[in-house]
Amino acid sequence: MVLPFIHEPFTDFKDETNQKEFEAALKKVKSELGKDYPLVINGEKIYTDDKLVSVNPSNKNQVVGSVSKATTQHVDQAMKAANEALKTWRTWTPEERAEVLYRAAAIVRRRKHEFSAWLVYDAGKPWDQADGDTAEGIDFMEYYAREMVELGKGKEINDRVGENNTYFYQPMGPGVTIPPWNFAFAIVCGTTVAPIVAGNPVLLKPSENTPVIAYKLVEALEEAGLPKGVLSFVPGDPKEIGDYLVDHPQTHFVNFTGSRATGVRIMERAAKVQEGQNFLKRVVAEMGGKDTIIVDNDADLDLAADSIVNSAFGFSGQKCSACSRAIIHKDVYDEVLEKSIELTKALTVGNTSEDNVYMGPVVNQKQLEKIRDYIEVGKDEGVLAYGGETDDSEGYFVHPTIFKDLDPKARIMQEEIFGPVVGFTKAENFDELLDIANNTEYGLTGAVISNNRSHLNRARYEFHVGNLYFNRGCTAAIVGYQPFGGFKMSGTDSKAGGPDYLQHFLEAKTVTEKF
Ligand code: NAD
Ligand code: ALA
Repeated sequence: MVLPFIHEPFTDFKDETNQKEFEAALKKVKSELGKDYPLVINGEKIYTDDKLVSVNPSNKNQVVGSVSKATTQHVDQAMKAANEALKTWRTWTPEERAEVLYRAAAIVRRRKHEFSAWLVYDAGKPWDQADGDTAEGIDFMEYYAREMVELGKGKEINDRVGENNTYFYQPMGPGVTIPPWNFAFAIVCGTTVAPIVAGNPVLLKPSENTPVIAYKLVEALEEAGLPKGVLSFVPGDPKEIGDYLVDHPQTHFVNFTGSRATGVRIMERAAKVQEGQNFLKRVVAEMGGKDTIIVDNDADLDLAADSIVNSAFGFSGQKCSACSRAIIHKDVYDEVLEKSIELTKALTVGNTSEDNVYMGPVVNQKQLEKIRDYIEVGKDEGVLAYGGETDDSEGYFVHPTIFKDLDPKARIMQEEIFGPVVGFTKAENFDELLDIANNTEYGLTGAVISNNRSHLNRARYEFHVGNLYFNRGCTAAIVGYQPFGGFKMSGTDSKAGGPDYLQHFLEAKTVTEKF
């Protein structure tokens, strides 16, 4: 019997035994650094001369692994294999497809710290963030497997006298998964296994920043019994194969998570019907955020500061859900700012592959430079209240940074920085708190810290974000508990980890029989 879904528990790193086990996993992974990884097409491992080289963001001289780069010819081969695999994969029952995911989840769970240790090296994640990333990947497999079994039953519709009607779901055909690097296991896993369990073969093109941990997922799914051709692993340079994957006339869907610019480009390209294409492509595009915590004048101010600091600086602010705007009622502005600075002073920053620190590096040099530029912009637009330092001598370190007294329309308050930078601004009253919260082009996450029930009731409908939280931070959605996805330019609101997600990769069919 399959037990009901419950989310994977997080590891308590205050427990010394867990610390020791995690250190052992880091040691094991360290001994495996620097290897070569292949493409996987139709079950075949293909090594190319041209490689993506992944380095440890905490220590840029340490090579994590070199991953073969796919060409457009490889994409064609993978698509051919996907079409062939579709013929049998679609005939597996939802239960049979779900079994593969349950088994893959069990494989990853048994080696949980090892997967998290790869995340520490490949993405620079702090231990607790890596642990959460691995847990979320396990959750996606467990959750979507159960959801597919439910959807496999179809839905009840009405019959009439002399007429029987049935309504059920079927796979669409091969598609492409294009994830980001920031949840280098969880999002890669969720966006890959959802279309697969729905019966569709997938070509996975991981981020060029974190291809090694993506390969580890492919290995786990293979070990779990996924038939060859159902999942092809085609890492590469997005400039060389990105458009080709999206434009391909046999790509039925693109399951994308990443920046606004790439998401919009994919939407536009996928809308064009290519020669030989006899269906419309579907695009799931989950994009960026400029997420806000608003603090009311009667709020618990310690809770407010804690929520802002942890949502802004967890994984160095490199989450689409990260709080990058704190909008505070004027009566409590100074106090919340002061408390936030005090909490930030206590945060540790360092090499996550050596120490259990709060904050590690940002992902690469380009991202560090982008954040550094924004810090200069912030100094012009507002007042640097804390932090502002960067250090790229060994790894890509940016210290937690707080700007105060910003204009709500300042660039720091409008543009996605994707780093540990949060801007504070002041509002006169609750109307203005909400107005400022809604004044960006994004609509992903947000939080309200307030003890005023009528204000919370208003925010429920007037704060226009896909994931809204009351009296807690605005990050850390959990599969099956907080289905995730945003409004406006944050994307297509697909609600990953929720009950509507799989339908993006299924065709609903109605069959009527007249008696
Ligand atoms: P990105 O857009 O640079 O890259 C995302 C993916 O798209 C990568 O795999 C990349 O190789 C690929 N890509 C780039 N150009 C392409 C092209 N022309 N055609 C096809 N694929 C192409 O984003 P990123 O830096 O990897 O990720 C960070 C962004 O992702 C942030 O904006 C963040 O907010 C967003 N994000 C959103 C969510 C969400 O659920 N809304 C979750 C995580 C991250
Ligand atoms: N799902 C991730 C979070 O909620 C992005 O933080």
